[in-house]
Amino acid sequence: MRILTGIQPSGKLHWGNYFGAMKSMFDLQDKGDNFMFIANYHAMTTVRDGRTLRAATRDVALDYLACGLDPAKTTVYRQSDVPEVQELAWYLSCLTPMGLLERCHSYKDKMAHGFEATHGLFAYPVLMAADILIMNADLVPVGKDQKQHLEVTRDLAQKFDNAYGEIFKLPDAYIPETVATIPGTDGQKMSKSYHNTIELFDPSAKKKIMSIVTDSKTMEEPKEPEGNSIFEMYKLFATKEEAETMAANFRAGNYGYGSAKKELLAAYRRLFDPFRERRETLAKDPSMLEDIMRDGAARARRAAAAQMEKVRQAVGI
Ligand code: ADP
Ligand code: TRP
Repeated sequence: MRILTGIQPSGKLHWGNYFGAMKSMFDLQDKGDNFMFIANYHAMTTVRDGRTLRAATRDVALDYLACGLDPAKTTVYRQSDVPEVQELAWYLSCLTPMGLLERCHSYKDKMAHGFEATHGLFAYPVLMAADILIMNADLVPVGKDQKQHLEVTRDLAQKFDNAYGEIFKLPDAYIPETVATIPGTDGQKMSKSYHNTIELFDPSAKKKIMSIVTDSKTMEEPKEPEGNSIFEMYKLFATKEEAETMAANFRAGNYGYGSAKKELLAAYRRLFDPFRERRETLAKDPSMLEDIMRDGAARARRAAAAQMEKVRQAVGI
């Protein structure tokens, strides 16, 4: 089974990215033949500075490796290491109905947030379909907001196969229910566009956790844990028993949001302090990172080349 996911290097990665996309991939590392890439072409839809893009690409690679990516089990590469995805994206574009892209929520959402309406943003899902189909992926771990893009991918794979014969597999999204949407410090979905994130290695994590928005219940009052952002976040870090204890504390009363925030901070540190140490060690050895990326690029390119040979043959190029 081939498992593949990508993350854009368009800002510092946050808890939503970790639990929504990265962790699922790490958890699946022993289950298949794994690919994890840094979507630097996609990031160009919002990042307009070469130096920033290059630095962010390196940072995401370090984050992956620090948080659990094992290069012996997972091929890690930059999207631009496989430039053939642009070629496949064009072939798919020629079969993509405008209406399919016009219906995409992520495009509409970007427009609602004041982004410029560019062709790149509009055609984004076609390039994403190419990323997935070029690698023949079976399973794609992503957050819930990417579900529609997987549907577009399946749709385009079918359109291609109807026109040219059986080439592509139909990939499935992998979205564990428990991590479907991680809330941000203001209770909305955590997203860099909403300025409500806590970054993986956030120097102001404590301040941000303490600022998580709550209702105005007094410490004495019993509180419903489900749907409360602090509890929803804590559940991600805690064991089942720890989460049950916090839920019981909330329901019993005499347990304030301040105490819950402190427990959340401690749980975050327990998980991330070792990752932070590993990241610092890796950052000191740029040649090791380069070796890993070079090796990943070669493996990814080989996998893509085999698929593209069939595709070109089919389309007549
Ligand atoms: P952002 O919303 O901050 O721009 P991206 O759209 O770049 O994040 O998301 C990268 C990956 O992380 C995607 O698979 C996405 O579904 C996942 N992800 C991002 N934010 C969340 C969240 N709040 N909850 C669950 N998954 C998320
Ligand atoms: N669109 C994804 C996101 O914003 C990133 C991405 C690009 C991706 N290509 C992909 C994810 C292919 C999975 C598979 O998070």
